[in-house]
Amino acid sequence: MQQELEQLESAALDELARVSELSQLEAWRVQYLGKKSALTAVLRSLSSLSSDERKVIGARANSVKESLQNSLATRKETLSLESLDESLGASAIDVTLPGRPLPHGRLHPTTQVMGEICSVFAGMGFQIIEGPEVERDYYNFEALNIPETHPARDMFATLWVDAREDRNARLLRTHTSPMQIRLMEQQKPPLRFVVPGRTYRYEATDATHEWMFHQVEGLAIDVDITLRDLKETLFEFCKKVFGRDTGVRFRCDYFPFVEPGGEVAIECVSCKGAGCRLCGGTGWLEILGCGMVHPDVLSRCGIDPSVHSGFAFGMGVERVSILRHGIDDIRHFYSDDFRFLRQF
Ligand code: PHE
Repeated sequence: MQQELEQLESAALDELARVSELSQLEAWRVQYLGKKSALTAVLRSLSSLSSDERKVIGARANSVKESLQNSLATRKETLSLESLDESLGASAIDVTLPGRPLPHGRLHPTTQVMGEICSVFAGMGFQIIEGPEVERDYYNFEALNIPETHPARDMFATLWVDAREDRNARLLRTHTSPMQIRLMEQQKPPLRFVVPGRTYRYEATDATHEWMFHQVEGLAIDVDITLRDLKETLFEFCKKVFGRDTGVRFRCDYFPFVEPGGEVAIECVSCKGAGCRLCGGTGWLEILGCGMVHPDVLSRCGIDPSVHSGFAFGMGVERVSILRHGIDDIRHFYSDDFRFLRQF
């Protein structure tokens, strides 16, 4: 019987070591320590033994029972720890690991270039101001010498907010020039302002046209402002933004709200003036329209054209950006493609 107990103990412990799930432990307990187990049978049979035998076997049987109970408790603890480890494994936060870097945002290329343009003019003493994107017909057209019947209205395909027959109709500004009027109405000369902002045109989009784009308007009004001031200002701007070695061309152009009107082009950044696809073979790239503020526009804003004069200009921000970075399609700017945007 001694031997039977030894075997029973070692078989039970072997088996216990193989139990790998908490849920299987109960079955093991029933088999080796339960009411119908071999060990319980031995303990029950003690009364039928002689008193000498009972002492020896009884002591041994009780020590086996104790050993099995202790081993069960230990095994239970080990298995619970293991399963806790496993469930933590997936979600555990290891505070000793180095942190994951957060992706950090950056300014949109348009915002960057617009900021750069404005800071060049700020350096020449211009103040920076913004204006409304939803404008009145009066400010966008009428006050700028573009009456209802004027053929120049064709230059600005307009997105209307109200029915356009209404003389007070609202529209999405087609250029930043309406801010010339607002500034001259609100303040007395001398004035020196640049106005960055969004503009809209009702146009089919393609590689060179977007229905929403950005402009920076410039306005300077004072006594004795001449065409020479305009040219000096814009030439200086071009040198700062495109580099000293880039050629700049100043030519006549027509805008109803300036007289005379002009246009500034820079030497093609791609072919350096030789003629290529980007410049359409001309060697030059237009970047802005400009001119001396028309006397009628001045008087309409309560400024006496015999005392004050001034110049204005308006440039396309995406255009400057396209030329600086050699971008082949304006639609890249607002298509939210991170592969494009991350480059700036
Ligand atoms: N507003 C004109 C345009 O959008 C540009 C311009 C501004 C021309 C100021 C002359 C003076 O094309």
